[in-house]
Amino acid sequence: MNRILVTGGAGFIGSSMAEKLAADKNNYVVIIDDLTTGSINKIPQSAHKNVRFIKCDVNDWMDVSGIMYSQPFDYVFHYAAVVGVTRTLENPVKVLNDLSGIRHLLYLAKNSGVKRVYFSSSSEVYGESFHFPQHEETTPLNSRLPYAIVKNASESYLKAFQQEYGLEYTIFRFFNTYGPRQSKDFVVSKFLAKALKNEPIELYGGGSQTRTFCYIDDNVDACLNAFKQNLYINDVVNIGGEDEVPIIDLAKLIIKITKSKSEILNLPPLPEGDMTRRKPDLTRMKKLLSRNHLSLEEGLRKILDNTKFIL
Ligand SMILES: NC(=O)c1ccc[n+]([C@@H]2O[C@H](COP(=O)([O-])OP(=O)(O)OC[C@H]3O[C@@H](n4cnc5c(N)ncnc54)[C@H](O)[C@@H]3O)[C@@H](O)[C@H]2O)c1
Repeated sequence: MNRILVTGGAGFIGSSMAEKLAADKNNYVVIIDDLTTGSINKIPQSAHKNVRFIKCDVNDWMDVSGIMYSQPFDYVFHYAAVVGVTRTLENPVKVLNDLSGIRHLLYLAKNSGVKRVYFSSSSEVYGESFHFPQHEETTPLNSRLPYAIVKNASESYLKAFQQEYGLEYTIFRFFNTYGPRQSKDFVVSKFLAKALKNEPIELYGGGSQTRTFCYIDDNVDACLNAFKQNLYINDVVNIGGEDEVPIIDLAKLIIKITKSKSEILNLPPLPEGDMTRRKPDLTRMKKLLSRNHLSLEEGLRKILDNTKFIL
């Protein structure tokens, strides 16, 4: 039996991973989350009765150490973080506090026999890149904003604990991921919600910024295969979508497939934090995902068919 801790498991990606882990009766999954952006409704039900939820703040040593010292874990998936462009720009001190969370987990992991820590980093570590596609080894990390700096420093913590204590890690650098359970802080779910209500869709700086969009199943299945097949140990993998899409085209596609009457409203560019371009090198991810990525249009249609997409 694998005992697995999932932090941030009441959130979008963490709950999706916890659900797939719990589908295997050989895994026992403990979810911890402080429910700041997560929701109790996202915590998966499992037929195997192998999921437990504990409300906990990973940045609070007393809270998290009690859990990790009272029960041993084999693996930790660390998804808890302050997320969302606006929230992270408006709360830089809170964002920087997430460095406590990774430090707590790593000290507790190395002292309690955890075999490996899986960490959700972000494409933001690349900052405003001038090298495309963004490659795990060769693209410089140009992180400058607190959220990106925390992800970058967390990656360094993982590497340092590996070097000094032999604690294994895998770093997933997530690019924009979307799916039915995502909160409305993120571009795809925000635009979909606006389109379904025929409200204006707001674009910053004309919407020429590009992103790739990864459907949640592609994200989770690739990460799950890294876990199941013991791949990319002490290594980094970009996890993202294939097609580079200008945000204005995303808005137009969403208006088209929802048959919405929403207008596109152009706002001035954000003062910072809205990178011009993102495109991952997916060579490593493709070795994990033994199928083609879902196209953006197919993914959007799946969300619209899914009753879990709540307005
Ligand atoms: N969604 C994306 O496109 C994307 C892109 C890059 C990186 N990421 C990373 O993936 C991870 C998951 O993001 P998500 O999109 O699922 O967001 P989310 O907000 O749905 O999930 C984050 C979860 O962490 C919880 N949390 C936050 N701070 C906590 C704390 N101190 N203690 C315990 N729980 C805490 C929240 O309540 C929430 O449930 C995050 O680390 C995020 O930085 C996501």
